[in-house]
Parts: sequence; C-alpha cells; structure tokens
Amino acid sequence: MPRDIIIDTDPGQDDAIAILLALASPELNVLGITAVAGNVPLPLTQKNARIVCELAGKPDTLVFAGCDAPMTRKLVTAEHVHGKSGLDGPQLADPTMPLQDQHAVDWIIDTCRAAAPASITLCPLGPLTNIATALTRAPEIKHAIAEIVLMGGGYFEGGNITPTAEFNIYVDPEAAHIVFSAGLPLTVMPLDMTHKALTTKPRIDAFRAMGTKVGDMTAAWTDFFERFDMEKYGSEGAPLHDPTVIAYLIQPELFTGRHINVEIETQSDLTLGMTVADWWRVTDRAPNCTFIGDLDADGFYKLLASRLATYS
Ligand code: BDR
Ligand code: CA
Repeated sequence: MPRDIIIDTDPGQDDAIAILLALASPELNVLGITAVAGNVPLPLTQKNARIVCELAGKPDTLVFAGCDAPMTRKLVTAEHVHGKSGLDGPQLADPTMPLQDQHAVDWIIDTCRAAAPASITLCPLGPLTNIATALTRAPEIKHAIAEIVLMGGGYFEGGNITPTAEFNIYVDPEAAHIVFSAGLPLTVMPLDMTHKALTTKPRIDAFRAMGTKVGDMTAAWTDFFERFDMEKYGSEGAPLHDPTVIAYLIQPELFTGRHINVEIETQSDLTLGMTVADWWRVTDRAPNCTFIGDLDADGFYKLLASRLATYS
C-alpha cells in the first residue's frame, strides 16, 4: 500500500524537484499539495506548485493555497536564491489546472479528521506556517499524523539566511516551535546533511541526458540555483535540500541521524530561528526528533535520477 502524504511547499526549484520525485514514486500517494508563502509570496508558490504538477503530467493533483504570511511576523522571501518567480530558469507556461477553492489549512484539518489513525505523513518543504496553524486550530488532527518529515534547520553547518538560522525555520520560528513541540514523530533534514547532497556536474548531466522535458527542467533548475550557492560556499555544486525529504520516505537507509532534542530560538534577535540541537546529548531535555546528519549522496542521486527518468 502506498503511503499517503501531504506536501506542504513554497516552490522553489528544489521544492519542484521534490514534487517531481514524489509524483513519480509508486511508494507514495500524494493526497494533495499545500502551498505556503516562503521563497516567494503565496500567489507565486501556489502557481509554481501547479506548474510542476502539469510538468509531471499530473494536472489532477489537488493544489491548495494556504497562509500568505508567518503566524506573527512579516514574510521574508528568498528571491536572491530562487529568482523573481521562485522558479527561475527556463520559463514554463502558466498552469491551466485549477487551484482548489478551500484554504490549505482547512483542507489539512478536514483530511486528517477523516483519516484513519496514524495514516498520513506530512512533508513540509517550506516555512511551517500552514502545519502549525492546522495543529493549533485543530489539535485533534494529531491522531491521523503518522509522521512529519521536514526540511529545515542546521546545527554544525550554521545557517543560510543568518549565521545561525536556516531559511524555513527563520521565516516562521513560532510555527517551527509549535511543530517541534507537538509530540509527533518528527524527522528533520537539516543543512548539516543537505550540504552533502551536492549537484555536481556529472549529476546534473545525468538529468540532461534523459532527453525529456522533466530531465531538461531539472538540469536547468539545478544549474540556476547552483550559481548562487557555488559562489557563496565555493563548493563543487549546490545543495539540493527538499528532495531529501521525499527520498527519506522511499529509501530511509540512505540517511543516518540521531534521536535528540531540538529547540527553536524564538526570542533572540541575534540567533532567531536557530535549531538548538542537543547532538551531544549534554542536556536532559527529552528527544523530540530524529535529526539527520549524513546521507549516501550517490545513492540519493541515483534514486532521484531513476525516478525522474520514468517521466516520458
Ligand atoms: C530551504 O529554503 C528554501 O530556499 C529551499 O527551498 C529549502 O526548502 C533551504 O534552506
Ligand atoms: Ca522549500
């Protein structure tokens, strides 16, 4: 039986590749995609999510628009990484598939209320506003959530939007605090691991060699945001963050981590949005997540390429 998942996302080129990976994977049943404001404002993230579904040949995927701003703060965006559209690179046509009428948070609540216990996996790939709002408004939906696997945070690697904070957590730290303290099974894909999942030239060439629209777009998207990250980090490629969430659901053995306590800094101006990870277990704070530290990068790219190659 495929696993029922909800992808909560702010596409984003790496979000787009994560969506393509999920929609090509028979182990997963994408119940719906919920857009949130993040990399770019909500009107663009919901549109980009639909562009990606159409690229995947899945225009019947349910796409919902959710929160257009963090729970208590002003939205911070990342056009400097993803471009003005959020999905810069070769332009794809505007989508013709519909955006669902219902608000994403209401749909998440309704879907979880109607679901069997521990039957839905949430996959947040952006700021945690939609998920935290749903959990706050309807805490009883926890019964339906099997697990949350999210991209966010960083500890040994520091931050990418401030010296100590990763973008998804920084944009809505109050929402992150709610999710990290929800008492649900939680797996976190932080920068510590995604910075080892680099888009090297042979890996991008493998996408291009598919000779398909999906292969070409994946190569072009990785080329696009690679420029920014390679300049910044001086690395041989850019980290491909969000697809690691989906890969973890399919092949968890590619990843290793520790079950530890992670708290979110919501007070300090200097370290706002920091994921304070007790990696060395020096406190007696109870573990609340599995914090991933390493991956088999070749295995990850092999999985990604093999699944993207199934698109004609
Ligand atoms: C995260 O922030 C976004 O820019 C990416 O899509 C990813 O989800 C990385 O910090
Ligand atoms: Ca994202």
